[in-house]
Amino acid sequence: MDARPIGVFDSGLGGLTTVKKLAELLPEEDIVYLGDTGRTPYGSRSRDTIIKYARQDANFLVDRNIKAMVIACNTVCSVAYTMLEGIFSIKVYEVISAPAKEAAAYTKNGRVGVIGTAATIRSGAYEAALKRIASELLVISLPCPLFVPLVENGRIDAGDTAALAIAEDYLKELKEFGADTLILGCTHYPLIKDVISKVIGGGVELIDSGAETAKLVARDIQARGMAVPGGSKGVIRYFVTDSVDAFSGFASRFLGSDVGGMVEQVQLD
Ligand code: DGL
Repeated sequence: MDARPIGVFDSGLGGLTTVKKLAELLPEEDIVYLGDTGRTPYGSRSRDTIIKYARQDANFLVDRNIKAMVIACNTVCSVAYTMLEGIFSIKVYEVISAPAKEAAAYTKNGRVGVIGTAATIRSGAYEAALKRIASELLVISLPCPLFVPLVENGRIDAGDTAALAIAEDYLKELKEFGADTLILGCTHYPLIKDVISKVIGGGVELIDSGAETAKLVARDIQARGMAVPGGSKGVIRYFVTDSVDAFSGFASRFLGSDVGGMVEQVQLD
């Protein structure tokens, strides 16, 4: 067993979808979360900028003496995973393979949709992962760049007319394509899933990249003998690069417990 915490990072609130599932599956583990809220969104930025931010995020977590790192950001994984994995001696998990595997296993009609940030979709990482698993799959990939700012601004209700209008525009082609499975290829998107579901209707399975990855991480940490034995309750600490209050309010609502005292603002370099 290894008592060090598991590190998780994202550009902002999205990685909380991964933390929530990880804490549910491994309640005894300590987790250190970094949300780079001061610089979100990453997905509309250049490759070089994303790589620079990702290195700073990862270094921050490694300095907190973590035993494993989850890059809970599809954008970072799609452009910088191989680089980050090569730098550190701890296990580094990405959030693309597990949802791709789940989608390939779930689809009945062989038509899979992927939505993500501009950088993720541009990278083609999901298509490549899906085709590696099943080359006959038909895949449509659509960038939805305004979903992250909508989430970060709390515009996530199924009754939000601006969010609905944006989703209608982004998801039109997806509806015409007839996918029965949709990968939410950005960890922020499960937070706006009520809007997405309202637009695409029932009958399409939504695959949550953070939650699928958390399941894989939990299994792997146990299989490697690194898990903390049951009985104790893990501590989750949160670090953000912008206002503590804005993050705490949203995180407490989403996670169902008051995280206020556990959030600290930091500067990355
Ligand atoms: N949640 C992230 C992702 O999975 C990042 C979104 C962004 O900052 O653009 O892609």
